[in-house]
Amino acid sequence: MVSTSKVLKMVSTLSKISTQHVIKISTVDYFANQRAIHLVRHAVFVCEQFIPADLEIDRYDPVSQHVLALFEGHAVGTGRLTPDGRIGRVAVAKHLRNQGIGRCVMEELLEVARQHRHHEVVLAAQCHAIPFYERLGFYQEGHVFKELGIKHVTMRRTLV
Ligand code: COA
Repeated sequence: MVSTSKVLKMVSTLSKISTQHVIKISTVDYFANQRAIHLVRHAVFVCEQFIPADLEIDRYDPVSQHVLALFEGHAVGTGRLTPDGRIGRVAVAKHLRNQGIGRCVMEELLEVARQHRHHEVVLAAQCHAIPFYERLGFYQEGHVFKELGIKHVTMRRTLV
């Protein structure tokens, strides 16, 4: 299902490019876009964070809503919302971080959650990303725990 599509205009501070660029952020059909989605996730979670490739894809993928960010036709960011209101697999290509793409992916996921009548969303944040999620209105809950050797904390956000 394709619900919405937004563009993020980047008057670029990108190091190598000086003109304005457009990033397209949309909710996409998983089966039609799974190659692009897993390209980003594999690069970030498997190659960068050393998460085993067979754990990167799971049984929630086919039943989740997926958001994809495209830059010049290339997949550069993604994230998903599971049917029970859990956001996860949020990733932005390393060379394009800190340009607002992750925020746009999250805002789209929050919009999808509202459309699906969720009253709140929850996620397991890698500890380094806590400030990223706090800026998006999430608050920490409980203690730090380790998953696949990476420190996480549960974060929650109410939706209005
Ligand atoms: N520490 C502190 N602040 C951070 C941050 C970090 N690691 N990452 C982003 N932010 C802040 C930005 O400064 C920005 O703040 P502002 O709104 O005040 O300007 C805001 O969060 C939005 O940042 P944005 O540029 O949209 O984030 P991004 O495109 O770099 O994406 C991640 C953020 C976390 C998705 C990206 O760093 C990533 O893919 N990391 C590797 C995968 C990962 O760890 N995913 C999270 C799993 S829980």
